[in-house]
Amino acid sequence: MLVLAELKPGEVLYDLGSGDGRAVIMAAKDFGARAVGVELREDLAKRALSSIHELGLQDRVTIVNGDMFNVNLSAADVVFLYLTTSANEKIKPKLEAELKPGVRVVSHDYEIVGWKPAKVKNFCENPKLGYPSHTLYLYRKG
Ligand SMILES: C[S@@+](CC[C@H](N)C(=O)[O-])C[C@H]1O[C@@H](n2cnc3c(N)ncnc32)[C@H](O)[C@@H]1O
Repeated sequence: MLVLAELKPGEVLYDLGSGDGRAVIMAAKDFGARAVGVELREDLAKRALSSIHELGLQDRVTIVNGDMFNVNLSAADVVFLYLTTSANEKIKPKLEAELKPGVRVVSHDYEIVGWKPAKVKNFCENPKLGYPSHTLYLYRKG
């Protein structure tokens, strides 16, 4: 996902619905980016924060325990979504209003209906087993 987005050192990634923080951690640790994860569930936000502190990444990764609809996205260079088609539909007007031109949006498994992807990439989570398969959609804000 971060490779597809061509995330660069110093860029800012937002993961809207960041779960246990795996994507924001990878963005900071492996790509030298800064990252903000927004997660509604307190238990997952706490788990992410604990991993971030264990890895000493707290200067580069922030976790907001709250609703993604209440977070301003104007600082983002890359936005990651692993939500649902209906959640993508609800967040779309906010992305259209707040993201800078050129921002890359990667959505895992669910299209943003009405946006034209710049790239679509299929991958297999477990190549040995041959499943499950996933799709990444890369969009660029015009
Ligand atoms: C499928 S998980 C993806 C987790 C993470 N992005 C990843 O790729 O590992 C989706 C997450 O979005 C969170 N979520 C759903 N709606 C949200 C909202 N309105 N604001 C913040 N988080 C939300 C859920 O609690 C869940 O942890």
